[in-house]
Amino acid sequence: PLWSAAGKEVTTIEGLAAGKHPLIEAFTAEQALQCGYCINGIVMSAAALLAANRDPSEAQIAQALERHLCRCGTHVRIVRAIRRAAQASP
Ligand code: FES
Repeated sequence: PLWSAAGKEVTTIEGLAAGKHPLIEAFTAEQALQCGYCINGIVMSAAALLAANRDPSEAQIAQALERHLCRCGTHVRIVRAIRRAAQASP
């Protein structure tokens, strides 16, 4: 719930873009952005995954995204983008 974020630092997708997070470049390079319905949530979950695990396997990426539904069918590109961002992360 929203109240659980009280007093904590919150990063939004706009914050990731402003900070030039490698996920933004990777999703663009892999053309993983289609309609945009699911992407904000997927990118934020991917950012949390990469913050906790700098080199996630495809299985770990799939597990991290299991609650997200992408109706455009770009799952393969999304996983590729996250792997690409992981390799680009300092
Ligand atoms: Fe369209 Fe995921 S990009 S639902």
